[in-house]
Amino acid sequence: MYTSLLTTLDNHILTITINRPDKLNAINATVMTELDAVLDEIYENDAIRSALITGAGQKAFVAGADISEFMQVTSEGMALAKRGQDVFFRIENAPKPIVAAVNGFALGGGCELAMACHFRIAAENAKFGQPEINLGLIPGYGGTQRLTQLIGKGRAMELLMTGNLLDAASALQWGLVNYVVPQEELLNKTRSILDLINTKAPLSVAKTIRAVNTVYNYAVSGYDVEADSFGECFKTEDMREGVSAFLEKRKPVFSGK
Ligand code: COA
Repeated sequence: MYTSLLTTLDNHILTITINRPDKLNAINATVMTELDAVLDEIYENDAIRSALITGAGQKAFVAGADISEFMQVTSEGMALAKRGQDVFFRIENAPKPIVAAVNGFALGGGCELAMACHFRIAAENAKFGQPEINLGLIPGYGGTQRLTQLIGKGRAMELLMTGNLLDAASALQWGLVNYVVPQEELLNKTRSILDLINTKAPLSVAKTIRAVNTVYNYAVSGYDVEADSFGECFKTEDMREGVSAFLEKRKPVFSGK
């Protein structure tokens, strides 16, 4: 179905593997189009409750946007950035968790892809960075914004202006990733967290994502979104089930309603 992505659905978790290992999984126009299409699946298919994104091979998650396509870009540079930003907004605002399992280099657009996900888990060999400055560029897929949100202004400024790479241990210390695990444990660790989230009420999970993302939307009060979402939860069958199960000392069985 896809030419540059592999997808498998197992136990309600969609695993998306960016599959251009000979180019270190660089994001070309095809990968971007296919990521957009796989997001349609995530949004629309009820059998998918969560997703993880990783890269093929053991060397790279994604080593950036495909630099070989850059020489053709002149006046359309802004459109290229907007296109990537739009797709990555769809990841960030997806109503289901999407987690990056970073199995190697996450550079440029690869770091931006990982940062658009709801959280990140890294293999020990992972390396993060925004080396666009070395190409006479800046990040275009949200990197200046999300790196600053995740690690703070001073550290982001340094990484963005030096182009230096961050190893997995430093990424953990700086809050860019939640865990660092051996490469062979990366997918299992990621899936075990998604398995746990998948037992929760789907509407509560979706509302959590929306409310947390509102922290970064200065046009809207996150407190208003939180109160509204909290109120909406009271109208759901899953809230009745969760509270009844607690009171009856049993495990809840959520239906997504
Ligand atoms: N775009 C297009 N092709 C890329 C790429 C990218 N972002 N990153 C790597 N590749 C390709 C290389 O051109 C090479 O292709 P080739 O075998 O046809 O020559 C292949 O992937 C392997 O990469 P190579 O550079 O030989 O591996 P390495 O181990 O020596 O170095 C990196 C690994 C990640 C340090 C290096 O590939 C690199 O710096 N990549 C670019 C990172 C970057 O600037 N990203 C931001 C882009 S905006």
